[in-house]
Amino acid sequence: MTSILQCPVCRELTVRTETGCQCANKHTFDAARQGYINFLLVQKKHSKEPGDNKDMIQSRRRFLDRGHYDKLSDGINETIAGILSGRERGSVRSILDAGCGEGFYLERLKGSIGRSDMDPAVFSYYGVDISKYAVQQATQRDRTVNWFVASIIDLPFVNSSLDIIFNVFSPVNFSEFSRILKNMGKLAIAHPGPRHLNGLREVIYPVAREHEESDLVEQAMGLFSLSNRTRVNYQLELKSSGEIMDLLAMTPYFWNIDRSTRSRVETLDRLALDVDVMISVFSKAVG
Ligand SMILES: C[S@@+](CC[C@H](N)C(=O)[O-])C[C@H]1O[C@@H](n2cnc3c(N)ncnc32)[C@H](O)[C@@H]1O
Ligand SMILES: [Zn+2]
Repeated sequence: MTSILQCPVCRELTVRTETGCQCANKHTFDAARQGYINFLLVQKKHSKEPGDNKDMIQSRRRFLDRGHYDKLSDGINETIAGILSGRERGSVRSILDAGCGEGFYLERLKGSIGRSDMDPAVFSYYGVDISKYAVQQATQRDRTVNWFVASIIDLPFVNSSLDIIFNVFSPVNFSEFSRILKNMGKLAIAHPGPRHLNGLREVIYPVAREHEESDLVEQAMGLFSLSNRTRVNYQLELKSSGEIMDLLAMTPYFWNIDRSTRSRVETLDRLALDVDVMISVFSKAVG
């Protein structure tokens, strides 16, 4: 397959080599022992270890591998299958998970496409996250995916090269996503719905707080328009303190709560809560 990679230093086309990647100006990016490539330039790092840390990634992996978000992942896979069904069969398809974490959703998407009647050979998969540890973990799920350490601020892809970008609970950069998507490309964003994590939220905030409305459509204005939105909504029952603490470590609450609130969550050994996620599909505005 022809390369769609772009050098983060000089923006020239970059191709895979036996040991990693190299651009036309001979900037090289070595593949790590685990198989991923680090495109994050040291001078652009704002901290030594940007992104989710080791403990957060381990919690996420344990939680996801228990199947608690399988229905959400199935919803994302159906959304992407819907996008693909409208396309000419057999043409090459490139899919990026932007902010892929430890690779759960991309691995499951690849599996579901592999089990469908689509030709798996025409697909190429890319997973990008700013956390090196997350990407190292992702390589353990599937070494045939192209896993990269990079930021959504500066993605290592040439203009108009991807068919689908998806993003699950991760930071969004509409202008960079627009740059790298093909004109007919689609962007699918999974983001919290109004009831998401109700149950846990009541333990954390004894006085009920309203969820903030998503302003993604406003943020996307001029670059993308909303094509459709589906909702994945179900009840989850967690049956141990370990599972509850793993979930907490996956949420922004983990950073925002004080010690006594954390202790309150730690004493729980059962928790019923809502999973409520919106999957918003955006089409690139072609101007
Ligand atoms: C809430 S986690 C979601 C991870 C994964 N999509 C999932 O749902 O399991 C957010 C992820 O975004 C990553 N992240 C944060 N800032 C980023 C950036 N500027 N570029 C790429 N990834 C980033 C973090 O390292 C983390 O893995
Ligand atoms: Zn270069």
